[in-house]
Amino acid sequence: MSNNLLKGKKGIIFGALDEKSIAWKTALRCYEEGAQFVLTNAPVALRMGEINKLAQQCGNAPVIGADVTNMEDLKALFEKSMEHFGGKLDFVLHSVGMSLNVRKGKSYTELNYEWNQKTLDISATSLHRVLRTAWDLDALNEWSSVVALTYIAAQRVFPDYSEMADAKSLLESITRTFGYYYGEKKKVRVNTISQSPTVTTAGSGVKGFDGFISYAEKMSPLGNATADDCANYIAVMFSDYTRMVTMQNLFHDGGFSFTGVTTAVIDSMKP
Ligand SMILES: NC(=O)c1ccc[n+]([C@@H]2O[C@H](COP(=O)([O-])OP(=O)(O)OC[C@H]3O[C@@H](n4cnc5c(N)ncnc54)[C@H](O)[C@@H]3O)[C@@H](O)[C@H]2O)c1
Repeated sequence: MSNNLLKGKKGIIFGALDEKSIAWKTALRCYEEGAQFVLTNAPVALRMGEINKLAQQCGNAPVIGADVTNMEDLKALFEKSMEHFGGKLDFVLHSVGMSLNVRKGKSYTELNYEWNQKTLDISATSLHRVLRTAWDLDALNEWSSVVALTYIAAQRVFPDYSEMADAKSLLESITRTFGYYYGEKKKVRVNTISQSPTVTTAGSGVKGFDGFISYAEKMSPLGNATADDCANYIAVMFSDYTRMVTMQNLFHDGGFSFTGVTTAVIDSMKP
């Protein structure tokens, strides 16, 4: 179903790895809503070739590789995207995250700091790099919308989320601070969406993910938000219906963030 919510809008979508990716679902949704976009991911992820299938389903969207930690890659990505569209952009989705310590099995109290730096760069500072590139090239139209994805471990402790909690806190801080500057300069809006646990490659990398996802399901009055639900929300955030929303962390989690306890959880605790 399309409402032509994004008709005429042009953007860049980072992070579609496979069909489960939040960015993948978002690309399909935005295309349905009339948007045109460039798809991008790390060169190593592009080698899997999956993204070409998505590009075909989105009106042969261009696919341009870029490592989010590399300023030259980002500059080339924005320049080529503007060249392709013959003008500036209206939206950017930052759907990127990776924890080297989690991946390599190092617990939070034993972090390898070189890996930690890389995690923070890929998962958080990269948003600054993306915004800075757009800023320097003046690549975004007024009232453009930039969305990055985060998780509630930025506010509360979820032990197995480990260093990604710190990365998400930094990501949310960059959202506020760069959002301030970009709002003042160009009326560009920057927000994070704090999504329920979702079965994707990045999500499933968290230890004990199955228990984690069913606990969240029980603790959310509406249940967990799916990747498709998230794609819908992102489309609304790229639309003109949310023009005055900026510098926010927006919970998209079926009510999990404001629930103290649910009857389902209490019932499961009965001796
Ligand atoms: N899945 C969840 O439970 C969940 C919950 C809340 C927030 N998020 C966030 O949503 C976002 C998308 O993750 P997802 O769950 O769709 O998983 P995903 O694994 O499909 O997406 C992560 C993407 O990051 C990309 N990436 C990693 N390193 C990169 C680099 N150096 N340069 C460019 N791209 C790089 C990967 O190739 C991949 O496409 C992430 O920020 C994640 O933390 C996920």
